[in-house]
Amino acid sequence: MAYLELKDIHKSYHVDKQEFKVLKGIDSQFERGEFVSILGESGGGKTTLMNIIAGLDSKYDGDVILNGNSLKLDSNKQLDEYRRNTIGFIFQSFNLVSHLSILDNVKVSLEMTKLSHKEQDERARELLQKVGLGDHLKKYPNQLSGGQKQRVSIARALASDPDIIIADEPTGALDAQNTDDILKLMNEIAEDGKLVIAVTHSQVVADYGTRVVHLADGKIDKDTHLKEAFPLPNKEKSIKSRTAKMSSVIKMAFRHFSYNLKRNLLIMFGAAIGIFSVIFMLGLGNGVKGYINHEIYSQINPSAVQISKKVNTDDEQPNPNKIALNDSDVNRIKKVNNVQKVEKGSYQVGGQVQSKGKNATVQYVQSYYDGAVLTKNIKRGTTPKGDNEIIINKSTAQKFNKKHPYDVAGKKVTLFMNVIDSKKQPHLLKKKFKVSGVTNDSNPAAYPTYDGMKEMFKAGNLPFNANVLSAKVQGGVKNVQPAQDKIKAMKDSNGKARYQLAGAGSIIETLNTYINLAVYVLAAIAGISLLVSAIMIIVVLYISVAERTKEIGILRALGFSRRNIRWLFISEAIFLGFFSSVFSVIISYLLQAGVNNLSTSGIGYSIMQVSPGNAIFGIVVSVVICLLAALAPSGKAAKVDPVVSLSAE
Ligand SMILES: Nc1ncnc2c1ncn2[C@@H]1O[C@H](COP(=O)(O)OP(=O)(O)OP(=O)(O)O)[C@@H](O)[C@H]1O
Ligand SMILES: [Mg+2]
Repeated sequence: MAYLELKDIHKSYHVDKQEFKVLKGIDSQFERGEFVSILGESGGGKTTLMNIIAGLDSKYDGDVILNGNSLKLDSNKQLDEYRRNTIGFIFQSFNLVSHLSILDNVKVSLEMTKLSHKEQDERARELLQKVGLGDHLKKYPNQLSGGQKQRVSIARALASDPDIIIADEPTGALDAQNTDDILKLMNEIAEDGKLVIAVTHSQVVADYGTRVVHLADGKIDKDTHLKEAFPLPNKEKSIKSRTAKMSSVIKMAFRHFSYNLKRNLLIMFGAAIGIFSVIFMLGLGNGVKGYINHEIYSQINPSAVQISKKVNTDDEQPNPNKIALNDSDVNRIKKVNNVQKVEKGSYQVGGQVQSKGKNATVQYVQSYYDGAVLTKNIKRGTTPKGDNEIIINKSTAQKFNKKHPYDVAGKKVTLFMNVIDSKKQPHLLKKKFKVSGVTNDSNPAAYPTYDGMKEMFKAGNLPFNANVLSAKVQGGVKNVQPAQDKIKAMKDSNGKARYQLAGAGSIIETLNTYINLAVYVLAAIAGISLLVSAIMIIVVLYISVAERTKEIGILRALGFSRRNIRWLFISEAIFLGFFSSVFSVIISYLLQAGVNNLSTSGIGYSIMQVSPGNAIFGIVVSVVICLLAALAPSGKAAKVDPVVSLSAE
């Protein structure tokens, strides 16, 4: 049984439904140790036949039988393995990967072996040494002469120790001296017990081998044995092949990425604009939200939550019985996590403060509770105590003493309140108070003590009930929102919400909701530039696939699987996404430093606050977008037909 047998091989090409018969029944047998030259006229089908033997082309009739096993029955995967294991290809036009050094070019083939990294490196150096290029390892293909390039491709073909070396006009592009060197190398390969099949136009080359096969009109018309085949050496095949490791594929993608660094930097810059604008918007949103909260918290105590009964009415003054709160409400609120204390209070819309015939209107009268005003905002005096003290704000005090409003502290005033009873009848309540303190708050408001308000109702013969509770939350502002959420979620026996939040806490919440909304809308608009980036990346990847068709063919010929090729492109896209987003995160933080420098001196606050979450979000989104963008182009790359791509110009 012959080592390699060709059985009645027919091959036609179809162009526009027209059939071109190229091979019309090729039968032959080859043994290891032979150096076979294939001669024939140009266009006679030599390359076509080589592609079939090499397992690059499986669309033919007839059969290639290796060691008794038919290639015809092999799956794509088995053909990949066949090319890795058994075939070494030497091309007329060298077909080196231009962005890899010649050492790496040889190593690409070795990466599909089970040798360790160290062994791969040693073998690559050894092989390049053997073909006389030991001093040029770091050079790239375009820095070599034609003869040198062909020697690299011989070293690469030998790397995985294949049994068959196929050379398609290996000396076609070389001068006489180089041709001679290459022929010597190929002869040594045959001597080593390998089957060397070389296509040639040159009689010199043909005479060098052990056998000449001549093609004419799609058939073998002459088959001349010049010498005996070399005897097989007594050694086992030492190198076992495997599919390329993911890490090798990724490393290769990275090499290509850095080889094209200048162009990639530009692409990254384009892609980064999209990511950057999203991160920028999110960071600015955080900052604006923070700034507004900061401004509000400088006016009120954020850890005091105001609770009133939830009623379905738009009345400014609802029926006092319906909004009354009692001890069971207090106890219910007290049970909420982190609520430290609950104070009963009374809140009335509108009121008048009078002193020496001068009137000041206040927006609301609220019984004083712990945290109703910030202590640091009390510019004169203290908090109210007992049943006849009141605290008022600066603008109210100004009505009585325009120049020195804080001097009103300690003076007597009369408080008037318009309230309604349960039958909606209005009543005017009044009482004398001593101003215990004046705040610099801007809202016109009066804070008498709870007991003071109670006495006003008593004097007016009206029942007095708390209509607001102040809960003090401990453990910092972060605990306020959860406590508020708990309180809002409390349901009565009908499944309706019991309470609503009043006061500043609830305003901040709504405000933040709107700010968040605005930020998301802005970020979504910024996302449009992200979309533009994504389209750009898709285009770039498609161009890259077109540009690298030849390389894909080479890698497939060396035994890369379709999956390897797909991941080669996907990994490069991921690099693009990752680096451009890291780049935009850096730009964001730099810009943030500049913007905040300005805003701190302007409004005393850092207005841009990119959180680590925003940055990670940007990176993840960018990588995902690049991954998605890479799907179609990398799929296209994987589908490239190696035969077609190798003949690509
Ligand atoms: N992909 C293809 N589609 C259509 N026709 C093709 C294709 N590839 C090759 N052919 C045709 O098949 C014939 C054989 O081509 P092939 O490349 O095998 O010739 P060759 O013997 O290698 O020629 P040369 O010595 O010039 O390299 C030629 O007529 C060529 O035009
Ligand atoms: Mg050819």
